[in-house]
Amino acid sequence: MRGARILLVVSGSVAAYKALELIRLLRAEGAEVQPLLTEAGARFVTEESLAALSGRRVLRDLWAAEAEIGHIRLARWADAVVVAPASADRLARMALGLVEDLAGCVLLATRAPILVAPAMNPAMWAHPATAAHVAALAARGVAFAGPEEGPMAEPESGLGRLMEPPRLVEAIRALLGGPGRLAGRHVLVTSGPTQEPIDPVRYIANRSSGRQGHAIAAALAEMGARVTLVSGPVAIPDPRGVTVVRVETARQMLAACLAALPAEAAVCCAAVADWRPAEEAAQKRKKIPGEAPPPLPLAPNPDILTTLAAHPDRPRLVVGFAAETENLLAHAAEKRARKGADWMVANDVSAGVMGGAENEVHLLTAAGVEHWPRMDKREVARRLAGRIAEALA
Ligand code: CTP
Repeated sequence: MRGARILLVVSGSVAAYKALELIRLLRAEGAEVQPLLTEAGARFVTEESLAALSGRRVLRDLWAAEAEIGHIRLARWADAVVVAPASADRLARMALGLVEDLAGCVLLATRAPILVAPAMNPAMWAHPATAAHVAALAARGVAFAGPEEGPMAEPESGLGRLMEPPRLVEAIRALLGGPGRLAGRHVLVTSGPTQEPIDPVRYIANRSSGRQGHAIAAALAEMGARVTLVSGPVAIPDPRGVTVVRVETARQMLAACLAALPAEAAVCCAAVADWRPAEEAAQKRKKIPGEAPPPLPLAPNPDILTTLAAHPDRPRLVVGFAAETENLLAHAAEKRARKGADWMVANDVSAGVMGGAENEVHLLTAAGVEHWPRMDKREVARRLAGRIAEALA
């Protein structure tokens, strides 16, 4: 966690005193912690205590912070945003995207992963309104830690206690995707387009830049995985610490993937051409003046994702991508089932996402669908790598 920048939102709950211990533990791990105290939070814990333990000025007022750093810069500064404790009111505001205070603005502006540690009376936690807010936030990719069961401040007991700080530290470590979590694991990643030759000078290809697949390979390697990246022709540099196998056609890509097995996980991010010219002309195809354009018969390419998912040496976790221009979730769910993938990452490519720096994806798993907000492709990669580490753990 050394050098990790954590923005800690402390909202109004009796459990706010535990935020002090959380800051102490995070700093002992080498993290920087910037406390942000809400108005209700300030009723339970003092600004002075938070400042003393974090070694930083506590942010409270939206307008004062605006003059000093600005909520957008603050949102970008953070590697992770942690809301601990998160009151029922804060969960509701987050679910609705309300921005009437500094915490609301930062939580809406940030692209960093968010971890929420709820703390409230068991009846408030069990209320359908709170449950709906939690479901809405989880569907947007917000991670939850707790609450835990046990005695409350009021003389009663139940589900609603803030998760104990040492366990919260572990949840934050998982959120950040600490290095070494994938040590000893081999992960296969496909990336980029394929090129299917028509003749020695022409080919069929697509607009894939390889950015997302390469970022995933890099994020996995950063977590200590041994990564084999099988890539079609791209114009971006090789990620560091990754074994890159360069291919052109779908058939070469399949052969390279099979040669790379066994692997614990496979992430098929390549935009593989579904068809190739049925025959590759040995010589350049010439146009004959006065004649109609020649036909271009196509043959189907092998499906790499399907082949890996059905292989006797199947990776434990097979992840596919579904790039769609309409009916995103329905098509992605159908593809997940048809191709035998464990997870499907679905994105809408109608809005010119292909080739861009950002991506807005849905993660489809056996447990359901999560919507991740629009974020840098490297951030999508880090989150996905974190989830892969969790799944393989
Ligand atoms: N894929 C693959 N090999 C292929 C085609 C696709 O491994 N020959 C993988 C992609 O890497 C991706 C997933 O399958 O993980 C979905 O690819 P996509 O092209 O969107 O799906 P298709 O089955 O080709 O469906 P369609 O083109 O009809 O949308």
